[in-house]
Amino acid sequence: MASSTTTDPSMLADFRSHLQKSRRICALLGAGLSASSGLPTFRGAGGLWRTHDATVLATPQAFRADPSLVWHFYSYRRHMALNAKPNAAHHALAQLAKHKPQFITLSQNVDGLSPRAGHPPEQLKLLHGSLYDLKCTDQRECGYKESNNYTDPIVPSLVIPQGGDVAASDETTTDSSSQIDHTKNLIHGLDISDIKHDIPTIQTSDLPQCPSCQKALLRPGVVWFGESLPEDVMADVDAFFSSAEPIDLMLVVGTSAVVYPAAGYIQFAKHKGARVAVVNPDPSSGNSLDLGPGGKDWFFMEDAAKILPEMLRPVIGDIEGSQ
Ligand code: OAD
Repeated sequence: MASSTTTDPSMLADFRSHLQKSRRICALLGAGLSASSGLPTFRGAGGLWRTHDATVLATPQAFRADPSLVWHFYSYRRHMALNAKPNAAHHALAQLAKHKPQFITLSQNVDGLSPRAGHPPEQLKLLHGSLYDLKCTDQRECGYKESNNYTDPIVPSLVIPQGGDVAASDETTTDSSSQIDHTKNLIHGLDISDIKHDIPTIQTSDLPQCPSCQKALLRPGVVWFGESLPEDVMADVDAFFSSAEPIDLMLVVGTSAVVYPAAGYIQFAKHKGARVAVVNPDPSSGNSLDLGPGGKDWFFMEDAAKILPEMLRPVIGDIEGSQ
């Protein structure tokens, strides 16, 4: 076991023994999974983008009111995520999927790090879409959609302004305690999430345009608050949960589990008999678990990048980047 974890060895052993016996496994992933890669979470420190709550920018209303601002926000996130690297937890989960064919991962993350870690696509359900998908704002008349567009910046007007006060570097480390410093390393230019750096208001004609209808704007292919989750993704998730077979294990990694319907899958899995393992350094995230002597669940109060490779080691073996 890695010397840097503080996890009780008997809890780890109990979890591992259950994991080895488990066949039908589900994971719910959130932004904390990518924290050690330097990407900010939504609700912790760094949850504000300039003066805006990130959850307010992630709405159709915000896009309609100020497409320039919302495109700046998503262009910045695309830029950072492209410069980030998958961490040991992304790799460990990808390996688990390869060893356990009935393991399904429901990810709320749009950053592309799980796909880049080689997570098998058929076992990875991107509930909230991807930063690298684009679609026409006019889905009724036009319906244009595009996947895996990694152009950065997506149009010249969205380039991150350059300045002398932030060093450009693509180094990342796995110490989430100084996430803010790492975040800066992912931005090649000024950190425009900070209100002290001005951003221009971009004219509609200079924002990403739909190449199909040539009339409407393109928008990020992510799910915004108030929108439905992608139908094809939901069909696969429903098939997994509606099976008559029990679910053995539910992993809940790096999520505050407050956004529905995603968070609801924890209860669904419990109803199907799953024991739950939460991985999250926030002590309050273990509140709803059945813990203690005789309890069914486990709470690993640690950085996912450190503890997940340890938790999964008996099944996946050693992975690059884990200690
Ligand atoms: P949140 O920001 O709500 O929660 C991130 C969680 O990660 C918190 O509980 C942190 O304690 C935990 N965390 C932080 N660092 C961690 C680490 N190193 N290892 C493990 N856990 C860590 O993000 P989400 O739960 O992903 O939706 O948010 C859910 C959804 O709300 C997002 O997909 C997004 C957002 O608004 C949309 O945009 C539709």
